Amino acid sequence: MAKNKIIIKTSEDIQWIREAGRIASLALDMIGQYIKEWISTEELDHICNTFILSKWWKSACIGYNWYPKFTCISLNDTICHWIPTKSEILKTWDILNVDITVNKDWYFWDTSRMYTVWEILPQAQKLIDVTQKALDIWISQVYPGNMTGNIGYEISKFVESKWFSVVLEYTGHWIGRWFHEEPYIYHKSQKNSWVKIVPWMVFTIEPMINLWTPRTKVLNDKWTVKTQDWKLSAQFEHTIAVTEDWYEILTLS
Ligand code: MF3
Ligand code: CO
Ligand code: CO
Repeated sequence: MAKNKIIIKTSEDIQWIREAGRIASLALDMIGQYIKEWISTEELDHICNTFILSKWWKSACIGYNWYPKFTCISLNDTICHWIPTKSEILKTWDILNVDITVNKDWYFWDTSRMYTVWEILPQAQKLIDVTQKALDIWISQVYPGNMTGNIGYEISKFVESKWFSVVLEYTGHWIGRWFHEEPYIYHKSQKNSWVKIVPWMVFTIEPMINLWTPRTKVLNDKWTVKTQDWKLSAQFEHTIAVTEDWYEILTLS
């Protein structure tokens, strides 16, 4: 897409957006204590929404392209966008991602984290650790003058050195006055490709890392994205602003 369409925020916008991001992150802090065996993903969704409303923010997920719930809660072999339900009950060995996007006055904020329920297989722990590290690596690539392609270049180099794989079809995105703004940020890309990073850009990075094949499949509900081999997947997401000389993570509590 044309570079002149990239929306660059003003420093005033950033102040505003910082607050919204904090609410999303606080919701993720809060939900940790409820992630236990026997709770349903629908209950977790409800608790997150009650929290967000209590802060006078609202979930941006519900109604977005007819998405029916307030959060996405993706378990085990689900890569992203799983719709919470009453029948999906957490079990001892589950790993899950809770993805929350909040909105107020036409601003949007998007963040997600991984959680474990009780016990964890060493392989699952390693996947979560590598995915968390992948997020740290992309953050180190965010500074004015760098190219967005270098984020995906560094993430994929690291992840593949650990023998895991990077999902290609789902990406980071510019965010602000709309939930998803172009251009997208690929988590695997060529060195020095794509878009030059300049101050006050705001975008998400949200690497989805799979245990084995990077291939994906979408279920009949048109939302749920699974790994094609039914093996585990993990994801972390932050929204980040580029500042005059570096970056600021806006979804920290
Ligand atoms: N939060 C997701 C993202 O990181 C998008 C979810 S869209 C929804 O971009 F409609 F499912 F909420
Ligand atoms: Co996002
Ligand atoms: Co998200």
